[in-house]
Amino acid sequence: MWGGRFATGPDAIMDEINASIGFDYRLAAQDIRGSKAHVAMLADTGIVSRETASAIDAGLDQVSGEIESGAFTFSRALEDIHMNVESRLAEIIGPEAGRLHTARSRNDQVALDFRLWVRDTIDHLDGQMRDLQSVLVDKATLHAGDVMPGFTHLQSAQPVTFGHHLLAYVEMLGRDRGRLADARKRLNECPIGSAALAGTSFPIDREQTARALGFDRPTANSLDSVSDRDFVLETLSAAAICATHLSRFGEEIVLWATPQFGFVHLSDGFTTGSSIMPQKRNPDAAELVRGKAGRVIGALTGLLIVMKGLPLAYSKDMQEDKEGAFDALHTLSLCLAAITGMVRDFQPDLKRMKAAAGAGYATATDLADWLVRALGLPFRRAHHVTGALVKLAADRKIGLEKLTLEEMRAVEPGITEAVFGVLGVEKSVKSRKSYGGTAPANVRAQARRWRARLDKERAMAGSR
Ligand code: ARG
Repeated sequence: MWGGRFATGPDAIMDEINASIGFDYRLAAQDIRGSKAHVAMLADTGIVSRETASAIDAGLDQVSGEIESGAFTFSRALEDIHMNVESRLAEIIGPEAGRLHTARSRNDQVALDFRLWVRDTIDHLDGQMRDLQSVLVDKATLHAGDVMPGFTHLQSAQPVTFGHHLLAYVEMLGRDRGRLADARKRLNECPIGSAALAGTSFPIDREQTARALGFDRPTANSLDSVSDRDFVLETLSAAAICATHLSRFGEEIVLWATPQFGFVHLSDGFTTGSSIMPQKRNPDAAELVRGKAGRVIGALTGLLIVMKGLPLAYSKDMQEDKEGAFDALHTLSLCLAAITGMVRDFQPDLKRMKAAAGAGYATATDLADWLVRALGLPFRRAHHVTGALVKLAADRKIGLEKLTLEEMRAVEPGITEAVFGVLGVEKSVKSRKSYGGTAPANVRAQARRWRARLDKERAMAGSR
């Protein structure tokens, strides 16, 4: 494709370090889509004859069919997907194929192809995140009133409901989707027609290609267009944050599934056995979701380092943008699918959760709040009295509700029989009615809000 001024071909090692076809073959569909829009514009502007343009268009359809059916042979000597497609086009339609590359370069071509690919991938991931939210909202609705321990420092802190805990992840995923949508909005400008770096002298119509490919507008600076990989960085950073959320969920599932916690029973479909210890049910999928966040974060870090310090405009370093991004976004997609399956299938042990919710004096704050409300004590004083009562109960290895009224009065004479009304875990969660709190009525309302939103989004996605 560029042999005009070369006497010999590249060294074998040069081929190996230079070629990207081993991974950018994944951009085939986007490459062909972009070329079809480009050649249609070249015909409409009179830069290429109608006849040649239709031959090119038909030839591209044939190449596309060959790639889809697996009949296409990718060649490393042709370096990348762009030259592989164009060279096959030339075999099919002859030298007129060479007119396709008028007013463009591989620099704007790869920028276009990768943008299209990232945009498609964002849409796919968004659908997966919506599905996971939907499964979580269903479970949260079911368990809006079921009590479990809430933790800080992984120490029992205050009782919460299982539904409330699950909705916390729905919120995180909501922000993850917002970040992706934001990245999508900013990436939706079309770089094709920027050519190598400076634009072109041909009378092209960049508005037309932008529109044809579903972009909001063409990019405004040709140098920036071929140098910019922000769209990958932004998507990877949104992906890294989402993978981090999923890794926290993975960790919680790992903990919950231990015999020590025993909060959830994972389905056979998402556990493995041990070859030596017959009793084991290992939560491998949850562990891998926890671990794979490392790859996603690594891809983001890797690309930031590739881009750092690169002069304008295109440099071959930028070819290193693809493998990490392909791997990271595929990994995130797999993690989303795995968590969705695990959550859909797991069975919570509500009795154990409730028993654990009462352990560790988790209603101590409720007692302190009651002392403030019923006896008018300042909170600091109430905190101190409660601490003394917890110590008394702990020394005797009993729950707070097992202390007698006399024992409590010895610490704080004002305490009455009514105190026993706040010492149960169910009463505790019911009382947390502040906006965003864990009260079952709140959790139901939040789950309803999400359900309505998700249904609306699904209907809109379906009608698109
Ligand atoms: N394979 C290249 C890449 O992925 C395409 C652009 C090549 N441009 C160039 N001037 N050699 O970045």
